[in-house]
Amino acid sequence: MLIAKTIAEARAAVAKLRAERHCIGLVPTMGAMHAGHLSLVRAARAHCDAVVATIFVNPAQFAPGEDFAKYPRIFEADCALLEAEGVDVVFAPEPAEMYPAGVTTVVEVAGISDRLDGASRPGHFRGVATVVAKLFNIVQPNHAFFGQKDAAQVAVLRQMVRDLNFNLELVVCPTVREPDGLALSSRNRYLSPEQRQQALVLNRALRRVEEKIAAGVIDAEPLIDLGLAVLADEPDVRLDYFRIVDPDTLEDVSDVSAGALVAVAAVVGPARLIDNAVIPPR
Ligand code: PAJ
Repeated sequence: MLIAKTIAEARAAVAKLRAERHCIGLVPTMGAMHAGHLSLVRAARAHCDAVVATIFVNPAQFAPGEDFAKYPRIFEADCALLEAEGVDVVFAPEPAEMYPAGVTTVVEVAGISDRLDGASRPGHFRGVATVVAKLFNIVQPNHAFFGQKDAAQVAVLRQMVRDLNFNLELVVCPTVREPDGLALSSRNRYLSPEQRQQALVLNRALRRVEEKIAAGVIDAEPLIDLGLAVLADEPDVRLDYFRIVDPDTLEDVSDVSAGALVAVAAVVGPARLIDNAVIPPR
């Protein structure tokens, strides 16, 4: 496994791969690997004949006061896991390599970037879209792999790929969970055992809403009320949003008959956690 720290090294490594392989898969991450990240790597291995993973804690997607400085950085352990999964190239630049002095261009996916997490974290999706566009330009993958756990990120990036004519296919992989239902996240490391227990309420609210939908309820309003009531069981969990939206536009829907995304975000102790459930069309 080759580790590239500069854009020039990454481009050279990818050019070599491209000379011998047909299809390059890209898995962008911020590191602190868990089984969710590794599921994307496995999907990339299954779809493609070469896999490039990136590890970059992207300062542009953190607001002042968020957890950029304390975000877990465990580069050696990450590389060991990626190597064991058969990754060909890891691109792990320093911030100054991605954002040298004088950089002024950003990618703004207007409208959709202000919804869900974008409403609570202004500028977050500008940072995500900008860095992912740069990674797409550096690696030029045929397929790029993202997790359904970050459903709003997927919607923003789909729109970006369409609007800017990136010549690649986005592949969205299912959310990987702990056996008790907690969605895996690098930020779960911040939780105390008690907070980890409280965090289960996010998934519990989603499951209860899914059960109601399976029982025939399609109107968003009673479904949201149910989700909010479940979340209220854990007073130490500070709700950010619980919404039922169109998975492509992230706009609220009045019923789930055409398919929907049930999305939740909440702050548990030091961690802001998100989760969602995809409701298929009837
Ligand atoms: P990060 O949070 O490290 O996540 C990297 C990828 O792993 C994302 O596509 C995310 O959706 C996916 N992922 C995280 N938890 C998952 C889980 N439990 N199951 C399945 N997939 C999961 O998302 C980012 O980094 C950044 O915003 C990035 C796209 C790298 C841009 O900086």
